[in-house]
Amino acid sequence: MFIDIHHHLVYGVDDGAQDFEGTQRLVKAACADGIGYIITTPHITPGQVPFPIEDYYAHLRQTQDWCAEQGYVLQLYTGAEILYTPETPRLLREGQVPTLANSRFALLEFSPTDSYDYIQEAVRRVGSAGFVPVVAHAERYDAIKKIEQFNDLKDNFGVRIQINARTVIRKHSYFRGRWIRKIFDSGVVDYLATDAHDMPERHACMMDAYHKLAQDYGEETARALTGGNAMEIFQ
Ligand SMILES: [Fe+2]
Repeated sequence: MFIDIHHHLVYGVDDGAQDFEGTQRLVKAACADGIGYIITTPHITPGQVPFPIEDYYAHLRQTQDWCAEQGYVLQLYTGAEILYTPETPRLLREGQVPTLANSRFALLEFSPTDSYDYIQEAVRRVGSAGFVPVVAHAERYDAIKKIEQFNDLKDNFGVRIQINARTVIRKHSYFRGRWIRKIFDSGVVDYLATDAHDMPERHACMMDAYHKLAQDYGEETARALTGGNAMEIFQ
């Protein structure tokens, strides 16, 4: 079963599911897609935008109870997709921002136009605070395009790299272009995740991505990217 570390299924807290029916649709889609573990990751902008944390925990609990009632073999965990702010390291240390499944791993997002220096400083500070930075949909940033940069972030700051499953399967996607292909060829990608929202075009698609990766890189690599590597978060 796949592990999805980036998913917006908890309703009423961000631009993911808007109501419980939306959450239910996403759960069904994830189960049908072969996903067995989801870390739910609503958008949080620490210290700058208020986040309804009590609603988040209540809606997650409601979803877990509903999954159990329905007999879904799906484990749901707490998390957040953190839009990095200078307050982030402190608020992580104080336990005010959820990490991935309550681990030392923190899913970080940047604005597409943030500079490389800014991203480097962010992961350095998050690392110094005692956390492992995971860069969310790392294919999106103008500032991180060279393999040397991915290697710098990983080797010098312990960063993990997450790529969206949809990037792998999208028709006419840049996966077929040289650049994203090079990212996978170079082995810098740690996790594939769905970043699913309650929109048909943004539902889970791990199975298709798995098959595409297995075809191009072998089943062992495909398994590692869709779950094996993410086991470290739960250990
Ligand atoms: Fe996301």
